[in-house]
Amino acid sequence: MSYDKMALVGFLQAQNCSNYPGSWRHPQARQDFLTADYYQHVAKTLERGKFQLLFFDDRLAMPAIYGADHVAAIENGVRVVKMDPITILATIGAVTERIGLGGTLSTSYFEPFHIARQFSTLDHMTGGRAAWNVVTSLNDSEAMNMGRAESISHDERYDRSDEFMDVVLGHWNAWADDALVLDRENGRFADGSKVARLDHHGEYFSSRGPFTVPQTPQGHPVVIQAGQSGRGREFAVRWGELIFAIFPNLAFGQKMYRDIRDEANRQGRDPDSFRIAPLIYPIVAPTQAEAEDKAALIEGLAKPIDALALLSEVLNFDFATKEIDEPFSDDELANLSGLLAIRDRVLSLSGKSNPTVADFIAFSARGTIKEAPNFVGTATQVADGLEQWFRGGACDGFVIGASHIPGTYEDFVNYVVPELQKRGLHQVDYCGSTLRENLGFAGYRVAK
Ligand SMILES: Cc1cc2nc3c(=O)[nH]c(=O)nc-3n(C[C@H](O)[C@H](O)[C@H](O)COP(=O)(O)O)c2cc1C
Repeated sequence: MSYDKMALVGFLQAQNCSNYPGSWRHPQARQDFLTADYYQHVAKTLERGKFQLLFFDDRLAMPAIYGADHVAAIENGVRVVKMDPITILATIGAVTERIGLGGTLSTSYFEPFHIARQFSTLDHMTGGRAAWNVVTSLNDSEAMNMGRAESISHDERYDRSDEFMDVVLGHWNAWADDALVLDRENGRFADGSKVARLDHHGEYFSSRGPFTVPQTPQGHPVVIQAGQSGRGREFAVRWGELIFAIFPNLAFGQKMYRDIRDEANRQGRDPDSFRIAPLIYPIVAPTQAEAEDKAALIEGLAKPIDALALLSEVLNFDFATKEIDEPFSDDELANLSGLLAIRDRVLSLSGKSNPTVADFIAFSARGTIKEAPNFVGTATQVADGLEQWFRGGACDGFVIGASHIPGTYEDFVNYVVPELQKRGLHQVDYCGSTLRENLGFAGYRVAK
């Protein structure tokens, strides 16, 4: 273990539910998700709990593959609202002071110059608190919203993204720290020799520069990545400073944690220059019985349509074309695309080489909180579980998923955070003003 304090990250969505679609049906869920106050309230709560970061995921489409239609997803509120995360981050930045502010933008649908400029701007406007979650996009609905028929093939997405990162980091490093002179008396604004032009002409991208935003308070925004496949993980280790993951259990997490750090050593990167944080769903209450009741209520909010709509999205296959007990043929399984880890999980957990639609629903746990580990209990019990993972070499922190908003975060901050702080596992205050400092990366910059 390389860090003595865990990194805590709030997993937010600029949408009508959390990542758990059933969350909007929860009796205590706030319904004003179209207001700034909704997101600002969550951010202030997380900052009260000294979370290092909150970040918004993103997808450029609503579920519309199931039944080749969007109506079922809309009727059931299955992640159908998707607002622009960067705009919301700016409103949060104005009412918070220390918490890091992460947003997701896809390398498949934007130009590197555009993304570099958006996050540099956010970094300046928030005093060095910005982070970019680099995703490659896996879903054909997104492609169809953005001028393409289907998403780019898996490994090519990552090849393009390697070059994309070269361009972004090239721009981010264009202005030397001391390029701004601001000498009114002598009429000299900046040192022209300290602003480099990138002149990138690669296989996938061209960008000339010079970049139009001076270097930011933390050098450049923090880079987040969550590739899970072999190629994705190689990319994550090459570029990520925070690496997000889903580890179904402790033993799996310990193995993956070692594998990711080994991959860093293989690439010649210092494994202590990034942090690994898996997604979890905590449910906490004053007594174990109350926590279990809460969990039962939350689990009861999921509907089969949630799983079917989301499976169709993430595997680019219309699950409405099959009966519930109909097995997938070998060809159909081979032609699935997108998040293939889900297909492989269903194959392995069901023990069947031709699982049915019902098997996909049951074993993928898509659309339920079982998609990632649940920590259910009192503050002491939840803290025990997190401590076991953190001290046990499975992670350097956690991405906290919400089962309802804002309740999950209020409960976690009110009950679990003090317990973690008492044990010395979580910071009692922010140690710096930039996100990079608060993650323990002071001075570190991703090399070009
Ligand atoms: C915590 C977490 C958050 C993620 N957020 C997003 C997101 O906002 N948008 C997205 O398209 N993919 C997101 N992903 C998916 C990953 O970027 C990645 O595509 C996925 O894990 C599959 O890995 P692969 O691309 O190597 O196959 C997320 C994954 C995790 C574990």
